[in-house]
Amino acid sequence: MTARCKYEGGPGWGISLFRLDCADCAYNRPCNLERIFSYVVEMKKEMSVLKTSLFTPYTIKNLELKNRVVMAPMCQYSVTAKDGIPNDWHHVHYLSRAIGGTGLIIIEMTDVEPDGRITDYDLGLWSDEHIPAYKKLVDGIHAHGSKVGIQIAHAGRKAEDAAEPVAPSAIAYPDASYKQPRALTTEEVRGMVQKFADAARRAVQAGVDTIELHGAHGYLIHQFHSPVTNKRDDVYGQELSLFGVEVIQAVRKEMPAGMPLIFRISAVEYVDGGYDVDHAIELSRAYQAAGVDVIHVSSGGEGPAGARKPGNYPGYQVPFARQIREALNIPVIAVGALDEPALAQSVIGNEDADLVAVGRGLLRDPYWATHAAVALRGEKPSIPEQYQRGY
Ligand SMILES: Cc1cc2nc3c(=O)[nH]c(=O)nc-3n(C[C@H](O)[C@H](O)[C@H](O)COP(=O)(O)O)c2cc1C
Repeated sequence: MTARCKYEGGPGWGISLFRLDCADCAYNRPCNLERIFSYVVEMKKEMSVLKTSLFTPYTIKNLELKNRVVMAPMCQYSVTAKDGIPNDWHHVHYLSRAIGGTGLIIIEMTDVEPDGRITDYDLGLWSDEHIPAYKKLVDGIHAHGSKVGIQIAHAGRKAEDAAEPVAPSAIAYPDASYKQPRALTTEEVRGMVQKFADAARRAVQAGVDTIELHGAHGYLIHQFHSPVTNKRDDVYGQELSLFGVEVIQAVRKEMPAGMPLIFRISAVEYVDGGYDVDHAIELSRAYQAAGVDVIHVSSGGEGPAGARKPGNYPGYQVPFARQIREALNIPVIAVGALDEPALAQSVIGNEDADLVAVGRGLLRDPYWATHAAVALRGEKPSIPEQYQRGY
């Protein structure tokens, strides 16, 4: 047997082991080489699946993320001009997290009308005049390698500085510091759907890569889909998911087809009589059918916790993320006390979630993603040239 092995000089690390004449091959059976080679290929495939980590890139539709670290939306209450427009604070704040290696930055709750803000210091996108400042912010984040989402929202009955907050029903948040809201008329609800769509169009014009709708933490969309806060007798009360579904459909029309839409949901409510994860799964099913691509799984926020209090243990919301992921076969973002890198890594490795969002950890450390990559053995952090000597 003098013919050279057909794998001689071929590509791949496994080949050099067999760079022998078949006569010298340890197996002395040329046909085995083929079998061994395909086994090696399969093994490599399997290893790459097993090696899915926090730093494995992730693609959904046209959104390509360099890693699975998401900056959770976090209000900065820093719009000192009270005009809803991002300023220097927002610029430095978000660009630092981009330099710090974050895969996806979700800009904080950004409201569709002035009275939809929690406070007058919140961001907003209620006019076309807002677009240039957001474009500058988005371009800046992109320049430092992160992708950008923005959380579009309305605070509803939790709008603290509105003279008269609006809500699905005239039920105040059960805390004396909140005002009595007025119930929106059916016509006003339809107008509100359009306000979400207009804000989404402006966000797309500003260049965002994805949009997140805030359907959690007791804000307007959540108020509509909760039996505790929606006591309406029109169509929006008969079908609790209807407002959310119409918002999703209207927003989708303003987004390019390849741009994913994220929906943030409270998986359970903690007020006495609040809904359970089964209700959140049914809502998520309706929202998925309406055009949502990713569910961002949080919990609570609708009122003071009753008998069922959140544990706030590391990863306390992860079981909800996994339940929604499994029930709907939809990508999910897990969030909540996940800032220990090994824990965040395990959420991805164990396939509890597709992405991990970090909130307070990124307030403490803008370079959380880089430091997590350093801490997790074998991961290659993306350190900017200027900072290389620090590592
Ligand atoms: C200062 C601050 C502001 C927040 N603002 C928002 C917000 O705008 N939208 C939202 O959905 N959640 C908001 N959250 C909740 C976070 O997105 C996140 O879900 C929560 O902090 C839990 O994650 P963590 O344990 O990693 O901080 C905020 C949290 C903090 C600490």
